[in-house]
Amino acid sequence: MTITASAAWKAIDAHRDLLSPVHLREMFARDPGRVTRLSLNFDNTILFDFSKQRVDATTLSLLTALAREARLDEWTARMFGGEKINASEERAVLHVALRRSHGPFPSAALDVMPEVLATRRRMAAFAEAIRSGQMLGFTGLPIRHVVNIGIGGSDLGPKMLSSALRSVSHPALSVHYVSNLDSAQLAPLLQTLDPRTTLFLLASKTFTTQETMLNAQTARNWLLANLGDAAAIGRHFAALTAKPERAVEFGIREDAIFPLWDWVGGRFSVWSAVGLALMIAIGPQAFGELLTGAERMDEHFRSAPYEQNLPVVMALLGIWNTNFLGAASNAVLPYNESLKYFPSFLQQLEMESNGKSVGIDGQSVACATNPIVWGELGNNGQHAFFQLLHQGGRLVPCDFIAAVRSDYPLPGHQEALLANCFAQSAALAFGKTAAEARDELARSTAGEALEALLPHKVFAGNQPSSTLLLARLDAPTLGALVALYEHKVFVQGIIWGLNSFDQWGVELGKAVANSILPAFAEPALAARLDASTQALLAFSRQNLT
Ligand code: F6P
Repeated sequence: MTITASAAWKAIDAHRDLLSPVHLREMFARDPGRVTRLSLNFDNTILFDFSKQRVDATTLSLLTALAREARLDEWTARMFGGEKINASEERAVLHVALRRSHGPFPSAALDVMPEVLATRRRMAAFAEAIRSGQMLGFTGLPIRHVVNIGIGGSDLGPKMLSSALRSVSHPALSVHYVSNLDSAQLAPLLQTLDPRTTLFLLASKTFTTQETMLNAQTARNWLLANLGDAAAIGRHFAALTAKPERAVEFGIREDAIFPLWDWVGGRFSVWSAVGLALMIAIGPQAFGELLTGAERMDEHFRSAPYEQNLPVVMALLGIWNTNFLGAASNAVLPYNESLKYFPSFLQQLEMESNGKSVGIDGQSVACATNPIVWGELGNNGQHAFFQLLHQGGRLVPCDFIAAVRSDYPLPGHQEALLANCFAQSAALAFGKTAAEARDELARSTAGEALEALLPHKVFAGNQPSSTLLLARLDAPTLGALVALYEHKVFVQGIIWGLNSFDQWGVELGKAVANSILPAFAEPALAARLDASTQALLAFSRQNLT
C-alpha cells in the first residue's frame, strides 16, 4: 500500500481540512502555552521554535503516526546497522560512523571504525604539519595557501563550514575553494597565489568528475610552469578520494592520499577526508568538536521520542507543508553572514537526496516530494525578495536561522540583526489586517486617498516558519545543525518512499555535455545534435576567438 492510501495519511488530510481555516493569529490567541508546546531545545545550544508553523498538537501526533506507518524506526535501525539501504547502488549509508569516537560500528562483524579513526589521525597530523609551518613545499618554504578543488559534496560542506567557523580559523593560512569549470574562478585565484607555498587538495570521491579533473589539471600545469620540475607535484598536491589508484596516476604520493569509502555519499561527506581543508583551517580539535556535536545529534535522533525529536519533527513539518498545505518551496534564511553558504549546502543535501519522483521500489511516487530549497542571507533578502514572501500570495515556508552571539561584535549590530530576524517571522505569521491598516493610515490620511492605499497596506500573514536559534556559532553546534538537516532528509525520504542516497538524475546532463564537447573542435560532429544545440554551437564558434 502506498503511504498516501494509508489511514495515517487520510487522517492528516481530514485534520488539514479542519485546521487550515485557522489563522496563525488565532492559533496563538487560543493557546497561551503554544510556544512551550511547539518548541524544542537541543542541549541548550539550539532552540527550535516551530510555533509559527500552521500546526497544533494534534497535527504533530497525526504526523508522528505517519512516521510510524512508514516504519521509520526500522529504516533508522537498518541505516545505523550498516544495511545496504542505498539499494540502487548496493551501498550501505554510514556517514554517521564518521563522527564516532570508537568502535565497533556498525557491528563487530562489519566494523568500519579502525579505518575511520586511522584516517582521522592521518588527517590531523597532516593538518597540524601545515598549521605549524612544518610542511614545506618543493622549494623549502612552508605551505601557506590551501586550495580545495572539488564540486558538489566535495566542495559545499567544507566551504560552508569554513565560512561558518572563519572566526576560529588559522590567521596565517588562506584556504580557498574552487569548483567551477568557468576559469573565471581559478584563473584570478592563481594570480594571487605563490606556487612555492600553495597546496592543492583534490577532493573527489570518484576522481573522474569533469569539473574537478580539469581544474586539477590546470593547477598542475600552473605549478609545473612555475616550479619547473615534475617532482614538485608530490609536495603540492594531496587527494581525498575513494579511488586512490586514480590519484596515484595523477602523480600524488600515497602518503598524501586520504581515503573515503563507498558508504559515504558525497553530500554527507564533510565529516570524512573531504573535510581536510576545513580541518586545516580550524584545526583538528575544532574539527573533533564538530564531529562530537554531530554525534550528539545522531544519538538524539536514535533515542528521542518522535514528538521531541528535532530531525523527526522538522521532517514532519516539511511533509505537512509540502503534502498537506501544498507548499512548493522552502526558503532558508540565515541571519548570520558566516552562514552565507548554508542555503546552497542545503540545496544539494535536500534536492539531490529527495528531488525524485520514482520510489525505492521503482514505482512512481504518488505525492509531491522535495520542495525547491532556496535562500539567501535573511537581512539582505529583506531588501530584495521578502516583498513576495509578505504579499506575493504564495505559500513559502521559511527556516530562519540565527546565532545569539556574534563572532565579530560591534556595538548595536547584533541586537538589531536579531530584532530583524524575529520581526520577519512574526510579520510573516501574523500579518496586518485591513482594520489595523485603516487605523494606522487614519493617522496621516483620510477619504479616497486612504481607501486607495488601504489594500496595499494589508498583510495576509499566515506564512509558516521555524526559527533555529543557536546560542553561538561554534563547532559543536554547527555539527549538530548539519546532522539535524541530514536526518531530516533521511526521515522525509523514508516517508516519501525514496532512496535518498543515489542521484541518477545528474547523469544525463553529464553524458550530453560529453557528446557536445567534441563538436567545438570538429564542427562536422554537430550534425548529429539537436537543432537548438547546433544553433548555440554555431553562435559560439562565431564568437570564440
Ligand atoms: O554530479 C553529482 C555528484 O556526483 C554529487 O553527488 C557529488 O557530490 C559531486 O558530483 C562530486 O562528485 P565527486 O566527489 O565524485 O567528484
